[in-house]
Amino acid sequence: MLDSIFRWLYDTAAGVVIRENESLFPWIESIHVLAIVLVVGSIAFVDLRLLGVASRDRSVNALTRDVLPSTWIAFAVAALTGLLMFISNAVNYAHNFYFQIKILFLVLAAANMLFFHFVAGRDVATWGAVAGPTPFKARLAGGTSLTLWICIVAFGRWIGFTLQPHLSG
Ligand code: HEM
Repeated sequence: MLDSIFRWLYDTAAGVVIRENESLFPWIESIHVLAIVLVVGSIAFVDLRLLGVASRDRSVNALTRDVLPSTWIAFAVAALTGLLMFISNAVNYAHNFYFQIKILFLVLAAANMLFFHFVAGRDVATWGAVAGPTPFKARLAGGTSLTLWICIVAFGRWIGFTLQPHLSG
């Protein structure tokens, strides 16, 4: 069932154009990498503040207010370019272990963000405008986030080295 969806994506006009054009995939992947640098770089700033090891002169509230809008824009660009690369070789990517784990970690990173938003950071505005230690739950969310994003980048990098033609049964 899933394979027929991946096959359908592979046969779309966009999939064919990206696959058959020599320079389109490298350009899309370059934009993917640039967007990733912005996503992971900006999230690392917030996570290191949550862990209390960086930007200690700024409150978490002020930092997230300034940083997260660019994170979301960069994430949208990373997801769109990732999807375009995916459809150009959907069946093989979908059966690639590193791609599967990367997507799993992306889902876990999103769940961790929701945990911070609705639980650990719910009272972020009351943490005061001045810098200071963050609650344990916030440090947990920050540490988990940083670990997940480092893994996402590592597994993302490994996809290209391990991609093999998937022989459907
Ligand atoms: C913000 C979230 C994401 C991060 C941090 C990320 C990270 C990465 C990294 C580090 C690479 C290797 C790039 C290189 O060195 O050439 C990569 C490649 C790739 N990513 Fe993502 N990615 C993200 C989102 C996505 C999404 C949502 C998809 C698909 C639905 C996706 C699909 C791919 C594909 C197909 C490749 C190409 C592998 C190849 O053939 O070289 N990515 N990603």
